[in-house]
Amino acid sequence: MQIHPVREDFAAVVSGIDLADAASTAAVDAIWRAIDQYAVLVFHDQNLSDQQLKDFSARFGPLEIGRSAARGGKRRLALPEIGDISNLDIDHQVRQLDDQRRLDSLGNRLWHTDASYMPVPVVLGLLHAKTLPPPSAFGNGETEFADMRAAYDALPEAMQASLDPLIIEHDVFWSRGQIGFTDFPPGEREQYPPSHQRLVRTHPGSNRKTLYLSAHASHVVGWPVADGRLLLLDLNAHATQARFIYSHTWKEGDLVIWDNRCTMHRGRPHDERQPRDLRRATTLDVGSTLQEVA
Ligand code: OGA
Ligand code: MN
Repeated sequence: MQIHPVREDFAAVVSGIDLADAASTAAVDAIWRAIDQYAVLVFHDQNLSDQQLKDFSARFGPLEIGRSAARGGKRRLALPEIGDISNLDIDHQVRQLDDQRRLDSLGNRLWHTDASYMPVPVVLGLLHAKTLPPPSAFGNGETEFADMRAAYDALPEAMQASLDPLIIEHDVFWSRGQIGFTDFPPGEREQYPPSHQRLVRTHPGSNRKTLYLSAHASHVVGWPVADGRLLLLDLNAHATQARFIYSHTWKEGDLVIWDNRCTMHRGRPHDERQPRDLRRATTLDVGSTLQEVA
């Protein structure tokens, strides 16, 4: 396995390994070490079935069943642990522009960390590209990643000290509301109440402090809502400067692993009439961020 860093401490391309065949504990340990250092890993030319993606991902932790798979009913993909990151319906047709599931999934275009609205959030995202759209005027469906450890390090010390104790309320209805999507299936608001998370976490694999920001982050607990929103707007602008970003241009067969605890990510626009089909497995954390020491 060779590791080719994109920049000193953020994002790396990993070659010389076939993930369909990476069952050895030594390989999993080596990948974990690389994740802990670089936070985003890119593997090219992997062609995993959903079952293989699930089996490989499960070596890194228990797998999440996402909000959409948890709805029940008919789904395009058979395995509930595999998230359908596509614009396709159950008949594999491109969804209409006003399709509710498509509009809900457009929340992925805002900078976020996955599932931060859950009381116990997630750790790794493992996203695998099957079918990609051609280039378009508005973008090519890239996925961008931002380095939240570097963003924390770049803040003045006095600000770091003031941020360290803050608790943030995260709410999926807030993130969707920002793009005007409020049409949730009945019962979902009750099923996914807001959760509280630390704003500053210590990333266990590197012992570095990191900002835990997300589009789901609504306000600061104990502050007037407006003050908290304004602080979060400032922090998001700081943390998503070009110097903290790796932009991934997808090739079919790519698999990208990222650590949701110390990165944010967002999808970019693409031609909505063309299929874009990616599959994602996600590992669960072991406890609430509130139990962690800042
Ligand atoms: C995700 C996500 C963005 C994209 O899979 O969690 O936010 O580019 N994806 O599809
Ligand atoms: Mn996401």
